[in-house]
Amino acid sequence: MSSEFAIKVSNLSKCYQIYEQPHDRLKQFVYPRLQRFIKQTPRQFFREYWALKDVSIEIKQGETIGIIGRNGSGKSTLLQMICGTLNPTSGTIQTKGRIAALLELGSGFNPEFNGRDNVYMNAGTLGLSKEEVDKRYDDIAAFADIGEFIDQPIKTYSSGMVMRLAFAVIAHVDADILVIDEALAVGDAIFTQKCMRFIRKFMKDGTVIFVSHDMNLVINLCENAIWLHNGRKIQGGESKEVGEAYL
Ligand SMILES: Nc1ncnc2c1ncn2[C@@H]1O[C@H](COP(=O)(O)OP(=O)(O)OP(=O)(O)O)[C@@H](O)[C@H]1O
Ligand SMILES: [Mg+2]
Repeated sequence: MSSEFAIKVSNLSKCYQIYEQPHDRLKQFVYPRLQRFIKQTPRQFFREYWALKDVSIEIKQGETIGIIGRNGSGKSTLLQMICGTLNPTSGTIQTKGRIAALLELGSGFNPEFNGRDNVYMNAGTLGLSKEEVDKRYDDIAAFADIGEFIDQPIKTYSSGMVMRLAFAVIAHVDADILVIDEALAVGDAIFTQKCMRFIRKFMKDGTVIFVSHDMNLVINLCENAIWLHNGRKIQGGESKEVGEAYL
């Protein structure tokens, strides 16, 4: 592990606005403008919900870190902000290197296009040129191992097949940082083993952030862990200690 950071998250928070009634959204859109116009203090029609509150984490290059916590504790919210698919309400995130992610919601694939086209688009957004994907395409298809479905639209895939293809892509883009959010749970045993072999090989040089409810796996795979609860960081440190405290 190097002393340089791969990811530095400082005082990160995410607040959602919760509306009790659908029409409160409209009221919130109209009333505050009117009230400000007539110099009244604007009324608020939503409740604030802090999915993540003031979380700071420094992840070193080459570190493997697990993020644990109950359902709704903010794990996926944190990961999405690290990957840049969700904007923070406040706080900052610094990252170094190429991040390849397997997130909880969707793979970034377009369901109307076939597997092959999606491989090109997905690897493209991660910074690979068409020529680079050409060279790696056969390896990606072999890793995914979904047979002729690779030429069918993604919408015809099972969730395990989507995950296979998504993992195959992130395994071949020369990422520096791998972010994995529970996705492996939908894979069958043989594919999960293949992914774990890849992750262990990747860990030799790369940085890995791993979210899972499988505490044995987290303790086994990750040297360190962070425990989130109600959007706050409760504890960080050696994964065995944090995992046992959480359990
Ligand atoms: N778009 C949204 N609007 C309002 N609240 C949201 C939104 N997205 C997430 N939340 C809330 O933020 C909280 C954190 O959600 P998050 O998905 O990060 O949890 P998680 O730790 O990944 O849980 P799980 O283990 O179930 O995957 C939850 O309470 C969730 O309801
Ligand atoms: Mg989640």
